[in-house]
Amino acid sequence: MSSAAGYVTDVAYVPGFYPNLAPSAIRYVASLNRVAPPKVDHGFNYLELGCGLGRSLTTLAAANPTGQFVGVDINPEHTALVQKDIDRGALKNARIVTADFAHLPNDLPTFDFIAMHGVLSWVAPAVREQCIAVVKERLAPGGLFLVSYNAMPGWAHLQPIRGILRQYAVLRQGDSVSRMREGLQYLVFIRDKHAKYFEDNPRAAAYVDGLLKQDVRYLVHEYLNEHWTSFYFAEVASMFRGADLSFAGSLPVHTNFWDLCVRPEFQELFRTTQDRLVTEAHKDFCANTAFRWDIFVKSPRLTPDIRSRVEAMDDLFFSVTRPGTTLPFQTNLGVVTSTVQGPIYQTLLETIGSGSMRMSEILATPKLSSAPKEELARAVDAGVAMGLFDFSSGPISDQTYDASKPLVIGCAFNSQLLKNESLSGRALALASTLTGTGYTIGDFDASILDELVQRGHDQLADRVDARLVSSGRSLQEEEKPVTDVARRSQLVKDACDRFRTTALPQLFKLGIVTNA
Ligand SMILES: C[S@@+](CC[C@H](N)C(=O)[O-])C[C@H]1O[C@@H](n2cnc3c(N)ncnc32)[C@H](O)[C@@H]1O
Repeated sequence: MSSAAGYVTDVAYVPGFYPNLAPSAIRYVASLNRVAPPKVDHGFNYLELGCGLGRSLTTLAAANPTGQFVGVDINPEHTALVQKDIDRGALKNARIVTADFAHLPNDLPTFDFIAMHGVLSWVAPAVREQCIAVVKERLAPGGLFLVSYNAMPGWAHLQPIRGILRQYAVLRQGDSVSRMREGLQYLVFIRDKHAKYFEDNPRAAAYVDGLLKQDVRYLVHEYLNEHWTSFYFAEVASMFRGADLSFAGSLPVHTNFWDLCVRPEFQELFRTTQDRLVTEAHKDFCANTAFRWDIFVKSPRLTPDIRSRVEAMDDLFFSVTRPGTTLPFQTNLGVVTSTVQGPIYQTLLETIGSGSMRMSEILATPKLSSAPKEELARAVDAGVAMGLFDFSSGPISDQTYDASKPLVIGCAFNSQLLKNESLSGRALALASTLTGTGYTIGDFDASILDELVQRGHDQLADRVDARLVSSGRSLQEEEKPVTDVARRSQLVKDACDRFRTTALPQLFKLGIVTNA
């Protein structure tokens, strides 16, 4: 317990896959901020600090067979479950280490990528120092470090909820889960009896309802640790400056475009600010940022012109997120609703609409030759930021599946997930070696996929329905369980049809499902 330094260890965390941890995502963001990302074509080393149940680690290891992945966590219950996933998925390129950050094994290499998600805000100041020391010592020159944390000012009005919840829960009896349950009851009580804090902060009052819908194990790790801090961006930038790192951008991609994060009336102010660190601080205020995913680089090699940038990232591929998308395309990124339109985007949609292309191929397209290359690359990046385009570590397939042939799941990691976690009540991410990341599907869709792969299309809906009944998991309609048998069968049939027309073609394009 002492080496956990106040971090909860009596209750295991919940599994979750976070696509922001994918090497392709981290590399792409660095490249759009003019930092050459580490080369990955001859293999790379990746470390995740505080990997929890390791679903990001194992999914990314399965999706990037040329990378070597190491996860570290102090909680042996967590690491045992990660090891189980590694064994079941036959992941030869993944290793899990049970250790605290101050006592990592001596045989670790230096890393091209280090990721630390959901740790910095929740550990003691001394443990933060240990994390900084690991990054300083273990990140290779040119390597990228991804860190996420609770951010100010978005947490300002919510921070007292954490404070009172923990103060109440630590006085209760039992394990962290039962303390948390009692803490939640107390919060609801004081909110419903109109405690002045909640009256003065109506968004905090509404936030309590959100807490009630979360997995209680997640809430334990989020709120019951002894240490809990939300940081201003400038504090985190200064912390990692101590590890010789400089800021190289943030995720999601749109956060690198301040004009997509702040309302038009603020934009003139931003246009005149040259310093990126200052811009980030103001952006967080204008967008009321509550959570940040920052990328830092050690000894960066900069790519000031488009030629050097393309050279550094031309192993990434761009595709249209939803084929068939037409312009104008509207998207809301939290604070601003953005509209994509105009001839460049129309031609880009036509150019990459049916498959995927490297940036060099896009820039060399004759139909786009009249546009300056910088402008074109910027349009691709902004298209990615707005969700019109997607990027991947390899080309996605342009083939369509043949319904008359059997379907196959090629990857052992995906097969075991479908076998063990269909209908678990939690979404699951399947690894795609084509894109280098995971693709998340619902647990019910996972059971449809598993049935399709195991026993084909015949009487699919009946089989899925029988599986649903035997699992005890119910379908919901208007937030209520469906008890009528005929209605349930109809919903299952509709879900199977929808899966075959929408999810299955996508899984096929991503190479997760193939024809035998
Ligand atoms: C909130 S969880 C995040 C888990 C994972 N990154 C995710 O997002 O699913 C934080 C993790 O850090 C681990 N941790 C906390 N303090 C640690 C330390 N001093 N050394 C190693 N791991 C630690 C915890 O056991 C826990 O699994």
